[in-house]
Amino acid sequence: MSDTPNSDFDLAVKAADTLRSQLNSHNYRYYSLDDPKISDGEYDQLLRRLENLEALYPVLRSADSPTQRVGSAPLAEFESVEHKVPMLSLANAFDDDELRDFERRLQSRLDDDSALSFVCEPKLDGVAVSLLYHDGVLVQGATRGDGFRGENITANVRTIASIPLKLHGDDFPPVLEVRGEIYLPRAGFDAINAEALAKDEKPFVNPRNAAAGSLRQLDSRITAKRPLEMCAYSLGLAEGGTLPDTHLATMQRLKEWGFLTNSLMESVVGIEACVDYYQRLAALRAGLAYDIDGIVYKVDSFRLQEALGFVARAPRWAIARKFPAEEARTRLLDVEFQVGRTGAITPVARLEPVFVGGVTVSNATLHNEDEIQRLGLRIDDQVVVRRAGDVIPQIARVVTSDADRADLPAIVFPTTCPVCGSALQRSEEQAVLRCTGGLVCAAQRKEGIKHFASRKALDIDGLGDKIIDQLVDAKLIHTVADLFTLTVEQLAGLDRMANKSATNLVAAIVVARQTTLPRLLYALGIREVGETTAKRLATHFGSLEKLEEANEEALLAVSDVGPVVADFVRQFLSNPDNLAVIASLREAGVAWPDIEAAGDQVLPLAGQVWVLTGTLTAMSRGQGKEQLEALGAKVTGSVSAKTTCLVAGESAGSKLEKARSLGVNVIDEAEFLALLASEA
Ligand code: IVH
Repeated sequence: MSDTPNSDFDLAVKAADTLRSQLNSHNYRYYSLDDPKISDGEYDQLLRRLENLEALYPVLRSADSPTQRVGSAPLAEFESVEHKVPMLSLANAFDDDELRDFERRLQSRLDDDSALSFVCEPKLDGVAVSLLYHDGVLVQGATRGDGFRGENITANVRTIASIPLKLHGDDFPPVLEVRGEIYLPRAGFDAINAEALAKDEKPFVNPRNAAAGSLRQLDSRITAKRPLEMCAYSLGLAEGGTLPDTHLATMQRLKEWGFLTNSLMESVVGIEACVDYYQRLAALRAGLAYDIDGIVYKVDSFRLQEALGFVARAPRWAIARKFPAEEARTRLLDVEFQVGRTGAITPVARLEPVFVGGVTVSNATLHNEDEIQRLGLRIDDQVVVRRAGDVIPQIARVVTSDADRADLPAIVFPTTCPVCGSALQRSEEQAVLRCTGGLVCAAQRKEGIKHFASRKALDIDGLGDKIIDQLVDAKLIHTVADLFTLTVEQLAGLDRMANKSATNLVAAIVVARQTTLPRLLYALGIREVGETTAKRLATHFGSLEKLEEANEEALLAVSDVGPVVADFVRQFLSNPDNLAVIASLREAGVAWPDIEAAGDQVLPLAGQVWVLTGTLTAMSRGQGKEQLEALGAKVTGSVSAKTTCLVAGESAGSKLEKARSLGVNVIDEAEFLALLASEA
């Protein structure tokens, strides 16, 4: 039909083109110029018109159309993609003197004492992303991953309004990779958490987790509903075209091409001005619309950046100055005792709500009795609450004056389980108090069922914590096996559970019956059997029957299973109650096919003992440990003659010295990464 000039189709093509360029230019005004010319409602109207046209003529729906931000059909998995220019991380400075050392290092490397120009910018607390443009059209979005390879999240990044699908102007290089941070502004975080709570779902801990979780969705329609933003902070690959010779001018270009850049970015001369910038930002931090966890300083000149180069995985020409953990004062109202899945009793501080680090805190973990004693805590005490990044808020110290606290009530530990009244037992080696009630204890049953239904276990969609609490309280279920007998009628009788959600939940439970041996072993909640150990046990034995038959010796042959874990596995699988639950699961149709047993397959680092020390730039020490363990190594905290190898990150101290004095093999982070890559 397009043959006829001025046919309906031709008119539609023209109209769609006009709408698309209008929408792109309004987007540009909004994000790059911060000067919108139309209201959100008017923007939505234009978008709606384009959507209607595209619905009528689907061939008009180009990948760079602003309508494509609503997400598309779910993917089976994320593809892995290579970063042609590795995505590096940053070295850290924790105080002003470390920042001054940074400038001195630069000057001595450059053999020039004159003051350097730095660009100072907030360190956004989100998720790093790489965006690839071919001829100005977004063709790929990827996560950082290990810096060399990330995950292809193109469908998800397309849904983010501040990411241009098509670059503005025409002076961009034909191949251009833009890097930046995707984050969730605080208001957006509050909104999605309010929605999660209303739906009885678990809220996110902080905006960064929420942003990461939103990007990890295989279904981009979910990502589209999260108000994510992206702020550009550097270039990666660039081929063709000419680029400015400073970072600041490049950021200006990025803004002109349609990216959101940080309005607090500043260029300064000399390190003292950087110190001053830090002070100014620290004062602004609490009032910002988004979370930042520090400041990034970058040498402005690309010529100097090139001369300075890189060390390990971080550039020499940039540094991150981290903010200290945030603290606030409040009052301890009470201490409650929670009973966990394994019966462990955890004291939890109830606090007068206080705003710290961007969130309102009203609970803090107290870990155990020793911690309470260490703090010398009493009810009604004035305390300092600390929140560092991801960590659960903690009580740092008591600040009530001695005179004021003489009459304050002490914290009394329960002598029986606060939920079921069973006796408590204190384990010798750990400062942990445990309820001995087992399946008698409603709290342990609830937590056990929550664990069974959780994402890494049977992953029962829609079975939230509050539903499980109600089901156990109403005695509709006692064990995990009872989940499979639940009916729509029973579920629809619960609070805030409509017929439709009850039907969906029953369907999700049916789907979850087809599981795998590693998931089942993890889901059973055997003490000390986390996801990795469950996988190891599954691949080693191949079937639950073989695992049930295994004696201690056979269990100890599994990499990373020691006497403690072996004992917990044997205890669990010889307990008649547990065996009855497993039998009921089978009867209810839960199936976990046998897998090919790897038996004695030897992992590459089996039998080796490794230690990690100092700061790693590419990953946390915890992540390094996990990777080593996956290769069969045992990872310990101290160096001895038995240590096979020490990985020494930046500023390694006494462990490095000890390893050298004992003649233990030492490798740096680059060698460590090369080893991980070669074993992958
Ligand atoms: S520059 C080679 N600038 O911080 C330079 N990074 O360890 C690489 N980040 O996860 C990064 N805000 O995503 C840079 N203004 C900023 C940043 C920033 C946040 C994140 C980045 C990475 C980490 C660096």
